Amino acid sequence: MVLRNEGVVPALECRELGKTYGAGRIVLAHLDFTLAPGEFVAIMGDSGVGKSTLLNLIAGLDSADSGDVIIDGSAVSRLDDNAATRLRRKKLGFVFQAFHVLPHLTLAQNVALPLLLNDLPTAGALDMLAAVGLGGRGDDFPRQLSGGELQRVAIARALVHRPKLILADEPTGNLDPDTAHDVLGLFRAQSKATGAATIMVTHSEAAAAVADRILILSDGGLHASSGRNAFAGSPPGSRSTARSADDAR
Ligand SMILES: Nc1ncnc2c1ncn2[C@@H]1O[C@H](COP(=O)(O)OP(=O)(O)O)[C@@H](O)[C@H]1O
Ligand SMILES: [Mg+2]
Repeated sequence: MVLRNEGVVPALECRELGKTYGAGRIVLAHLDFTLAPGEFVAIMGDSGVGKSTLLNLIAGLDSADSGDVIIDGSAVSRLDDNAATRLRRKKLGFVFQAFHVLPHLTLAQNVALPLLLNDLPTAGALDMLAAVGLGGRGDDFPRQLSGGELQRVAIARALVHRPKLILADEPTGNLDPDTAHDVLGLFRAQSKATGAATIMVTHSEAAAAVADRILILSDGGLHASSGRNAFAGSPPGSRSTARSADDAR
């Protein structure tokens, strides 16, 4: 268990975060959340409840109406656009649900992108590919890869610059159960190896089970999961949002 430790700068703090779309669709309201360095948190919740919105606000892909996002001690929501972009580029890794691996770049070039953007030496990209089980594949192109392999490239790219904070939006959502299981193990091992704190949004209880903490997003805020009770009214397996990885073990 990770305890809040005075003197340790949280990897992420969300304070009083609010987001409303259009005329009155309140998605997030007064959301408070603190993530310790190295901690791995799973966020679950019904479809449309605001999970992607929350990740997008943290990543700066969308802007909050109110509140603050503080990454590794810096209030990014209060920086100007250029400074916020630089900080996020350095401190954040994002694993998108649909991989977003660039098709015209080789695997090595895809993984090297965050290094290039941060003016870091790109040699580490090949080591990172090897760490996710794709050693020797650096010159291949994404079209030559399976879904599980593409997800490994996406994870390698999110971790290669050793960010403080990893955001993953349903990283096993497109994978078969066996591949989901492998990718989760890898993901957790790699984030622990680099010391990154991780938020993983998932519909899969099996995926969430690898996390240090499970939180449920509902009514605009994050709430501690209390085992099965968290899904009261929707027994496991009956939810329309259940994914194939639910059975991954
Ligand atoms: N750009 C947008 N404009 C208007 N409404 C949006 C936008 N993005 C998301 N929403 C709405 O916000 C709610 C939360 O969406 P989202 O964060 O994608 O949910 P989740 O990831 O939990 O399934 C949904 O009702 C969705 O329709
Ligand atoms: Mg979503």
